[in-house]
Amino acid sequence: MQRIKLSATESTNDYLKELMTLKRVSDFTVVIADTQTKGRGQVSATWESEPSKNLTFSVLKRHEALYLDNHFLLSMCVSCAVYEVLLSLGLPRLRVKWPNDILSGTSKICGILIENSIAGQEIKTSVIGIGLNVNQILFSNQGKASSLKLLLGREVPLDDLLQNLLDTLQRYLNDFNVSTWHSILSQYENILFKKNTPATFQEPNGPLFNGIIKGITKEGKLRLALEDDRIKEYGLKEIKLHY
Ligand code: BTN
Repeated sequence: MQRIKLSATESTNDYLKELMTLKRVSDFTVVIADTQTKGRGQVSATWESEPSKNLTFSVLKRHEALYLDNHFLLSMCVSCAVYEVLLSLGLPRLRVKWPNDILSGTSKICGILIENSIAGQEIKTSVIGIGLNVNQILFSNQGKASSLKLLLGREVPLDDLLQNLLDTLQRYLNDFNVSTWHSILSQYENILFKKNTPATFQEPNGPLFNGIIKGITKEGKLRLALEDDRIKEYGLKEIKLHY
């Protein structure tokens, strides 16, 4: 596992992607930064993280014959790996909010941004970006953000935590193949935030409505039971959960 430690960069995902255009980067190369000046989140959001307080890193995963249809398998593996490490630290009420935010109660402590490079129908490489709020205690513009320190009441050493995350991620990614689909799906659905619980949702610019999360499709869509008993499937930008 090659590690590249930077004091500052715009985004570790972007750094790793840029590096791949310049040279052959080996599987499981990790880029970690004390500071990101343009950290990116999902759906063109930004990712704010106080310098040297948190973990912001990206891991390159190369794939042999991973078809686009199975992209969500990787996403679930990463969420389950991070969940396992955080659970071992004793964080209360841990859940994964679809598709891959890690919550403790209703507070977001970790975000995951996976960017794939695709050739034909195959995913060739994935840059797995992880932002974990560790020792930061003040959050300005992220309404529901929290950190391990706020939730556990103690500082958590960054180096040990990073090693634990990388070891666990590597174990999940080594075992990762399409035959493990069902076991990962059930592991993921077991820790899914608001599963089987009535909740409020909104389609883009639409009214609020009630529904119940029933699970995930193979393509990674959210399966919602609506009030008229229909099941409807939603992709990432098609639905927002209010909580
Ligand atoms: C999200 O919840 O919206 C995803 C946040 C992902 C943040 C991480 S921090 C390391 C990597 N580099 C980035 O620019 N983003 C990801």
